[in-house]
Amino acid sequence: MKSLINKLTQTPGPPGYEGQIRQIVLAEIKDYADEIRVDNLGNLIARKGSKSDKGKRIMLAAHMDEIGVIATHIDEDGFIRFTNIGGVFPRYAPGGRVRFLDGTPGVIGTEKIESSYKVPPLSKMYIDVGASSQKDCHINVGDVAVFERPLTEMGDRMVSKAMDDRISVAILIEALKKLKQTPHEIYFVFSVQEEVGVRGATTAAFGVDPEIGLAIDVTRTGDTPKGITMEVSLGSGPAIKVKDSGMISDPRVVDWMVKTAQKAKIPYQLEVLERGGTDARAIQLTRSGVPAGCLSIPCRYVHSPSEMVDFTDVENALNLLLALLKDPIVLL
Ligand code: CO
Ligand code: ZN
Repeated sequence: MKSLINKLTQTPGPPGYEGQIRQIVLAEIKDYADEIRVDNLGNLIARKGSKSDKGKRIMLAAHMDEIGVIATHIDEDGFIRFTNIGGVFPRYAPGGRVRFLDGTPGVIGTEKIESSYKVPPLSKMYIDVGASSQKDCHINVGDVAVFERPLTEMGDRMVSKAMDDRISVAILIEALKKLKQTPHEIYFVFSVQEEVGVRGATTAAFGVDPEIGLAIDVTRTGDTPKGITMEVSLGSGPAIKVKDSGMISDPRVVDWMVKTAQKAKIPYQLEVLERGGTDARAIQLTRSGVPAGCLSIPCRYVHSPSEMVDFTDVENALNLLLALLKDPIVLL
């Protein structure tokens, strides 16, 4: 699974440009799904199982896209001005490297900084691709890039760009491969454009029309020096979302997840995230409403090029997901 995580995190896929990452996911799952389709926005939707009397139609969603940048202007000297696609924090950008979809690497520089405590906005930054003039720069306005940073292991901890949300893409792929018997009709959705406002999951949820929905995504932690106050820490198990700023999880779904984790003796944490949202919001609000929740992977430094997860949380999340899907579900 670790080599799969490496491949998934290192493949570029900014919002709206998920073609490369979708091909990789497709190659992984094609022999394990009963039916696969790609909808008009680019969501990859794989069905496993058919609905039995006791089964439900379930939608699982992990997003394929990652935060990125887009060129807005190329100046006479060949420097590229850019803006964000998704939640790029200016403080993580200077000195970082990006790679455009055609493979062109770039370095992010800043205009002269007045105070070293003040982070300039992205509009005061530029990308240097080594060009010496506009003519020499073969990047065009509208070209997109992602941050570049290889995966590193530190014991159980794994660090890379795009752990959000490729770590969950890896978990969904493994779940699809490992799930043998289920009474349910399960749609494994590898969604697009989550980082710009859960756009892919919106159309996918409408198309799938699920009876229960779960997103799998990363969440923040409260376990770093003078960090945010939050009861989630790395290595203490996957988190069961109770609330974030986009959704209040259905209490019946939370209860089902908690009881399943307890029964299977899988460690878990309860998550209340004050800022942030996931594909679960789009699922919950589709059509006339769907009971929805979210299985979260604790992650430090979210939306930085060095997002850190703990592999034991990843394994426990996979085990919890498999436990949730194998038996009939009664939401009380
Ligand atoms: Co994100
Ligand atoms: Zn995410």
